[in-house]
Amino acid sequence: MKNIVILISGRGSNMEAVVRAAQSEAWPARIAAVISNKADAKGLEFAQAHGIPTAVVANKDFPTRDQFDAKLQEVIDGFAPDLVVLAGFMRILTAPFVEHYEGRLLNIHPSLLPLFPGLDTHQQAINARVAEHGATVHFVTAELDHGPVVVQVKVPVLPGDTEDTLSARVLVEEHKLYPLAIRLFVEDRLSIVGGGVRIADTANI
Ligand code: GAR
Repeated sequence: MKNIVILISGRGSNMEAVVRAAQSEAWPARIAAVISNKADAKGLEFAQAHGIPTAVVANKDFPTRDQFDAKLQEVIDGFAPDLVVLAGFMRILTAPFVEHYEGRLLNIHPSLLPLFPGLDTHQQAINARVAEHGATVHFVTAELDHGPVVVQVKVPVLPGDTEDTLSARVLVEEHKLYPLAIRLFVEDRLSIVGGGVRIADTANI
């Protein structure tokens, strides 16, 4: 049974999708904890209602990024994680933190990386007049929104799309993509090879 720790900063809809999939698909894994850097993150309520331990490590309480990340790491490691999942966790992480979780730290980013790293990805996509947008699950490395890609999903950008309509279309797909990627991880089907990700038994996804 693998332990998954999920980090959130707000709404937590991706966390919710992961919790539901872990239960309904009977993964060989449990959600060991949901941790937020914000005490008022909405997603904490869902986790608590589902009997999942929660913790808050508020970045505003720490004078430096290093001190915050060190405390966050201590709290996460208290749950003995096999995998740490960033689900709308809106913090840039320091290199020592990322290196500590190398190969067991996943992120979902709302764009087709390497396109549109950073913030406001949906507006970036509209401004760039791309025909397709989407989301990416990747292993986290010290460079923001880089790191080996596990899976991506594409959605069309439609005439008249706004940031709201496009982000809603992407989010529906995120809720399928992230559980899929995490299931592959807990089934030991992901390996990082030469800077890319190899998925075992792709016929059976
Ligand atoms: C999601 O769209 C996720 O991809 C994005 O924040 C949203 C969180 O929503 N993450 C990032 O932009 C990370 N750079 P949620 O809290 O409802 O899962």
